[in-house]
Amino acid sequence: MEITEDQLIQEALKAKERAYCPYSNFKVGCSLLTKNNKIYTGCNVENASYGLCICAERVAICKAVSEGDRQISTIVVSCDTDEPTFSCGMCRQTIIEFCYPGNDIKIIAIGKDHTKPKYSKGTEILPFAFVPKDLNVDSQLEQIK
Ligand code: THU
Repeated sequence: MEITEDQLIQEALKAKERAYCPYSNFKVGCSLLTKNNKIYTGCNVENASYGLCICAERVAICKAVSEGDRQISTIVVSCDTDEPTFSCGMCRQTIIEFCYPGNDIKIIAIGKDHTKPKYSKGTEILPFAFVPKDLNVDSQLEQIK
């Protein structure tokens, strides 16, 4: 059965509750949907050595990619802010890596009131991004598909 946007949002909310964030106390949850109709989730995972903290989005993307599932269609990011907030710069760069001609990634950001999402696209949230074609490589597309 097709996974609905609402189901995907519910998974991001559940992932947020699994956040390991004893230092910031800022919970983030992420869910993503791939073209194979599979959901992968992630939460932020912090560390006493602060620089090692990993964002929820990159956890979810690494889970999908490491399962061989690289065709990402939608990403939901959830945190408890008053207004929905979009991903940090490092995560935006990671997201855009998996956008390619014919596949932009729909981004859904949700805040405290998850019934009021904000929407964007992978190719919109990081203007002037450094992308694979800047390296003059052709192999990236074959690897994504
Ligand atoms: N965080 C995310 O998980 N995703 C973002 O896009 C922004 C920040 C996490 C990292 C850290 O654990 C906490 O939020 C506060 O920055």
